[in-house]
Amino acid sequence: MAGLLALGLILGSTPGAQAAEDGTQGTVLTGPAEEAPASLLLPLEPAVSEPSAPASADQYLAALDRLLALGLSQEEADSLWLRQGAAGIETCLQGEGAAERLSLLRLSFAHPERLDRYQAELARSPETSPEEAVVRVNIGLDAPPYGVGEPVDEPASLTALVNKYHPLPADYVPELELLPPGYTASQGARLRPEACAAFLRMADAAAEEGLRLYSASPYRSYAAQERVYQRYAAQQGAEAADTYSARAGFSEHQTGLALDINVASLSARFEETAEYAWLSAHSWEYGFILRFPQGKEDLTGYLFEPWHYRYVGPETARLCHEQGWTLEEFWARQPVCGTGPVLTLEGEPLSFSRLPLVLDGDVYVPAEELARAIGWASAEQPDGTLLLWGERRQARLSEGRSLLSGGSSVSLDCPVIRANGVLMAPVKALCQALDLPCEQGEAGLDLRTSADTWDWVQKLDQSCRQHGITLEQAVGGLAVDRLERWISPAERWLSPQLDLFFWAAGRK
Ligand code: DAL
Ligand code: ZN
Repeated sequence: MAGLLALGLILGSTPGAQAAEDGTQGTVLTGPAEEAPASLLLPLEPAVSEPSAPASADQYLAALDRLLALGLSQEEADSLWLRQGAAGIETCLQGEGAAERLSLLRLSFAHPERLDRYQAELARSPETSPEEAVVRVNIGLDAPPYGVGEPVDEPASLTALVNKYHPLPADYVPELELLPPGYTASQGARLRPEACAAFLRMADAAAEEGLRLYSASPYRSYAAQERVYQRYAAQQGAEAADTYSARAGFSEHQTGLALDINVASLSARFEETAEYAWLSAHSWEYGFILRFPQGKEDLTGYLFEPWHYRYVGPETARLCHEQGWTLEEFWARQPVCGTGPVLTLEGEPLSFSRLPLVLDGDVYVPAEELARAIGWASAEQPDGTLLLWGERRQARLSEGRSLLSGGSSVSLDCPVIRANGVLMAPVKALCQALDLPCEQGEAGLDLRTSADTWDWVQKLDQSCRQHGITLEQAVGGLAVDRLERWISPAERWLSPQLDLFFWAAGRK
């Protein structure tokens, strides 16, 4: 790191513009490129794994109790359970070094199979926190750069990570579009269409505040990057060049999603301009991130480049901006197990305050949240039972094996469990007992809104027609297709008041 900073000072006085596409041919690099085994290169898709052995609710509850007692949050405990299962958690907690193992594996983005490397990273640098160690290893920084492993899987992905550990195929050429005159310093400057459109919007917005943004160097082919890098390496040596210029194949300029704005030189002090200040505040709104920020040199592998922006799309740019993450950190912090089994409601993803878990062969989710999602009302009783009701049916859930439904007792195949104070219901078994539709859909387990609710929506629709108003007016602008999800049965009980309500709505 100290070396990098020292070089930054030297660079401040090195010649300006980073080479354009016609950069001169340099000498062939024979620098000290160490090679990493392919296995050290990271897979960029978050791995989705289930504990290998089928898990029982009892095992989960026992593990949860232990982990909560050791100070883990519910979320951390569930994430560890998803990655490790009962046996893995047991191994983690047994014997010497348990505290250190737990400090690493409690992080949702820790890959259990990299535990040795995380521990080696901590041992190598004792001032490093467990979180930093996991991030560093996930980026691949514990191995030498420029490995010979697999090239980037999906080079066309807007979030593709291209760096010293993830090269592009040499022959990769994205779809490109010419930047219009006025937005670029050179003729023939090109970007991917998505990045191009976003850059033009961004430049137009800056122009409204009297600031001019233009592209100094956008897409560079593999060959062009080779010329750029070789020129710097010839001028300053490969070691110095590697701190600010990417070797051919390792530059994200080849994705067509990156561009240098206005300058490409530390000596120009772009970071002191109003344009840079504006970009720091607004580039994320247009889907761009500053790719090599100050203070993150050891993670990105490059010196601070105030001019180099990368289009990653608005969602990822917002997240990186809010969290202060580089693209390396965005990928290194992806949860290893995703979010557990997927549940959908009429095809749309459902999310809960806790991760759904597969226990005793069923998917468990918080019972009260499930009831509300399908349009039932719910109320926790003083005795700890949970009342759920639709228009025609009702059920009483309590910890244990049976469910009382509509006055008669129905036995569930799997028990309702109380985990850290919250009643968790086995989705399939519960739906079966209550005669609610629930099928294995393409994305995951797909629920249907309760038929009770649908009846009610139709009644509401009929009343609306009678009163000459739309459903949207009746419910204050809620979209019709959302009605069944958002209006709880409790509100249905207001139906005697509905005439008055429609009357009021109709007068607006
Ligand atoms: N200057 C950046 C690292 C590149 O050459 O891609
Ligand atoms: Zn650049």
